[in-house]
Parts: sequence; structure tokens; C-alpha cells
Amino acid sequence: MVSACARGTKRRRRDAIASAALSARIGSHVALEARLNGTIIACFDHHSVDLGQFSTDAAERAQDLRNGLPLNSTTSGASNIDKEIQLILKRLASHGLLEYRLTNSQSARDELIIEPQTPDYWPHAAQLDNSDILVLSRFAYLRRRGNAMVLESPRAGAAFQICNPTIAAILTGLATPQQLKQLRRRDGFPGIELFALLVDCQILVKIDPKRSSLRLTEGDGDLVLWDFHDLLFHTRSTAGRHANPLGGLYPYAGVLAPLPAVRPHWPGKKINLTKSHTTYSELAAPTAKLLRERHSFRTFDDGQPITLAELAGFLASTARVQLRWESRLDLGDCSPVVEYTARPYPSGGGCYELELYLAVDKCEGLTRGFYHYDAGGHVLTPINVRSHEFEALLAGAALAMDAQAAPPILITITARFGRVSWKYSSLAYSLILKDVGALLQTFYLMATDMGLGGCAIGTTNIDLFAKMTGIEFHVEGPVGQFAMGGGAKQPPLESQ
Ligand SMILES: Cc1cc2nc3c(=O)[nH]c(=O)nc-3n(C[C@H](O)[C@H](O)[C@H](O)COP(=O)(O)O)c2cc1C
Repeated sequence: MVSACARGTKRRRRDAIASAALSARIGSHVALEARLNGTIIACFDHHSVDLGQFSTDAAERAQDLRNGLPLNSTTSGASNIDKEIQLILKRLASHGLLEYRLTNSQSARDELIIEPQTPDYWPHAAQLDNSDILVLSRFAYLRRRGNAMVLESPRAGAAFQICNPTIAAILTGLATPQQLKQLRRRDGFPGIELFALLVDCQILVKIDPKRSSLRLTEGDGDLVLWDFHDLLFHTRSTAGRHANPLGGLYPYAGVLAPLPAVRPHWPGKKINLTKSHTTYSELAAPTAKLLRERHSFRTFDDGQPITLAELAGFLASTARVQLRWESRLDLGDCSPVVEYTARPYPSGGGCYELELYLAVDKCEGLTRGFYHYDAGGHVLTPINVRSHEFEALLAGAALAMDAQAAPPILITITARFGRVSWKYSSLAYSLILKDVGALLQTFYLMATDMGLGGCAIGTTNIDLFAKMTGIEFHVEGPVGQFAMGGGAKQPPLESQ
């Protein structure tokens, strides 16, 4: 028989063996240069970032970041050098230049490499208790990337390279909820730190055993409506919540030739349509003329600013609610009442989930600022946002258009995701993007008709919008952008 005291000793020994240490290191593409005046510069991919001025001792210790600097050795903050190192770490982290290693203290082998995905990620250990029940999030997934196995989730601020296959096996077992004390008994238990880091990133979730549905226990109620692939698509096809390359980077230019602009024709008999326009002349029809004249504007004429009256007319013609009604659904055992609207553009299932937020730089009669367009009331509501975030939003649009200046008005199209996913399984997010396309063309045509200029923008930063508005990225977030302003009399720029 093993006494309680002996059992306690055994558990302590096992935990001691399993304990792991967390260290920070700079990516292999980053070099730290210390200048004579004490300035430390981080150099990477033809860029450099000034990290500030530091003591010689701090600069020397910072060089340990090449191989890994134990985080617990810097967090005490007792000495000035610790504080300096903390500052260097935070600044490197905010530029995405740090990664973290969780190393087995006994074998010195890497258990995990943590790759931050958001600029504000910092490894934080969630508080865990032996009685906590843990389960893998239904948004977590494990995949091969190059030679590495990576554990990711659209909810997580970091991706985790799993270096030790035993950890992958233990995590696979967490498809079924398990108490932490059960996990501790597993051979190869890697230490509680790893689980605490994964809980912090919402890759593992603590669940309440009294609630029956796992789907309902995971995070807040708004996640219930998300399908796995939709949340992943949303977070990986926008900026803000991942660290992958994004945008027109031509990643396969040296690998494959571009596809032709027009599809090579099918073999067989052809019917020539050129001479078939007997009842309809595309040259005279007003819509055809509008479509022919439509093109993108990326620079706007400061001498001809858009006015509030023009903006009001534009919004009324493209997005204002025209009709509102209710209808009862008959689903057998439940019959909820659903509210509907009619608006000028089409929308999948009549959901009309899209909202418009206006970053106004220059508009005659309207104060510079950030506004929500209430399509029901046809009113603009000012929203207080931090000025550096407002400027970042406008600067991002200028960058996306390769323009010298911000557009006079930037419309951010957001989606209230749940309005669509409440009804549609599997295709909710794809429907939302199609709705964005329909609205963008509506904007283009109206702008052309009114003599205004506009340009669709393909990138949006979902994290920036969340910070500006305080709305969680999975509740309502950007899915498209449209830059607009006056001065459409000028000739079009070369298309991008
Ligand atoms: C979904 C979508 C995303 C776009 N994203 C950008 C963008 O980020 N930056 C940009 O300068 N133009 C963007 N455009 C505009 C296209 O480059 C433009 O429509 C295309 O080159 C054809 O030129 P045109 O609109 O003048 O006829 C986008 C257009 C669409 C429809």
C-alpha cells in the first residue's frame, strides 16, 4: 500500500520531471545591432526598427535572444537591466519579431514553439486547477506545414508548433473532456505550463460539466452560430489575426506562368453574337452606358470635395432600408418571427447583414471622424474612436490603393455574421462575401452616375475594427471596403 505522503512525493517528482521553461528568441531572419549611442536596431528583410536606447549590459544580454532568453529571468523586474530587457522584448513582440520556446527542463528538448499571430500576443499562463475539465476547442486544428506540425485556431493569438509527438497524442485525447488531474497521470505529461498556454489562447477550453452541449459551452454565445471553416476563412482571408503574407505579393511568379486574361476557347462550332443585337443596343441603353463608364478612382480631386448632400444621396440610393416587415417561420416544433427589410441591392436569403461605417477624412458639411450609417433611420451616428486607430484605417486604404493620400471617405462594410449563420449552414460566410460583391457594384454604379469616384478595396483589418469599436471580431466585423470622393471628372488611372 502506498501512503498518502508517498503518493504526494511521487506526484511532486513527476511534475518536477515534467516542468518546462519558456524562453523568447528572435526569428532567424532578425539581427539586433547595437549602435555606439546605445540605440538597438532590429534588422530584418530589408527593414529596420529602432527599439530605443539601452545600457551596454542590456544590449549584451539582448544578444542572448538569438538562442533564447528565459522569460522568467526577465519578469522579476527587480533590476534595471531586467526592466530594459522587458522593454526590448515588448517592442520586438509588437513588430512580430519574437517567438517563444517551451523547453523540457530535463532534456532541454523543445516541446513547443509559439509563433505569435497578433501584435499584442504575449505568452500568458491561464490559471488552472487540478479539478478543471479541459477539452479541445472545436475551432482548433493540427496540420503539417513544411516539416512542422502546427496547432492553430482562428480564435488564438498564436500558432503552436508541436515538436514532441507525445504532446500531439495527449492533445488528440482531449477531443473528449478530461480533468487536469487525469492528464497529469499520463506518461509523457509535458507539464502544466503547456496546457495553461493553450487555455489562454482558447485552443483548449475549460468546460462546465453541468452544461450538456459542448458547442454551447465554448466561449460566448455568438460563437455558437459559427461553422469551423467559416471562422477560419474569415480570420485567414483578412488582416489582423494572423502573421501570414497577405495581398498582391505574386508568390508564384517565379514558379508558374500567369493564367491568360481570357479563357482559351472551347473547341467546336461558334455562334457569333456581334450581329445579334437587333432589339437591344448596348451602346444606347442607360445602364449599359453606366457600366461602360464605371471604373476605379484611387486619387480624388481636393478642389472638388464630396459634400454631405452628395453623400446622403449616395447612401439613400444604394443602402437605405426601403421597407420593413415581419414574417413567422414554420419549422414544425418552433415558429420564430423573423424581421425582414428591402434595400436597393440584393442579399442572400434577404438577410441584409451588411452594415456601413464611414471614416470621413474630407467631406463638405461633415466633421472629420468615424460614423455608423443607420440604414433604417437614414442617419449617421458619430462613434468616438482613438485617433491613431482612425488614421491607421485611412492609411491602410491609401496603401491598398497605392495612393499618395487617404480617400476623402472610406466606407468599411461589416457583417453581422449571426444574421446569416442563424439560417444557413456551411455557406454563411461565402454568402456574405457574395453580398459584399453585389453592394460594391451598386456603389460603383451609383458613384459613376453621380459623378463621384470610388474604388473597392480587397483588404480589411478585422483586429483594428475590433479595437476601434470594442465589438468582438466574431460578432460583427469588416468584410469589405470602398473608398470614395469627389472629382470623378478626371481620366481613369491605370487599373491595378
Ligand atoms: C473585390 C475587389 C477588390 C479590390 N481591391 C482593390 C484594392 O485593394 N486596391 C485597389 O487599388 N483596387 C482594388 N480593386 C479595384 C480593381 O483593381 C479594379 O476594379 C480592376 O483593376 C478593374 O479596373 P476598373 O474598376 O477601373 O474597371 C478591387 C476591386 C474589387 C472588385
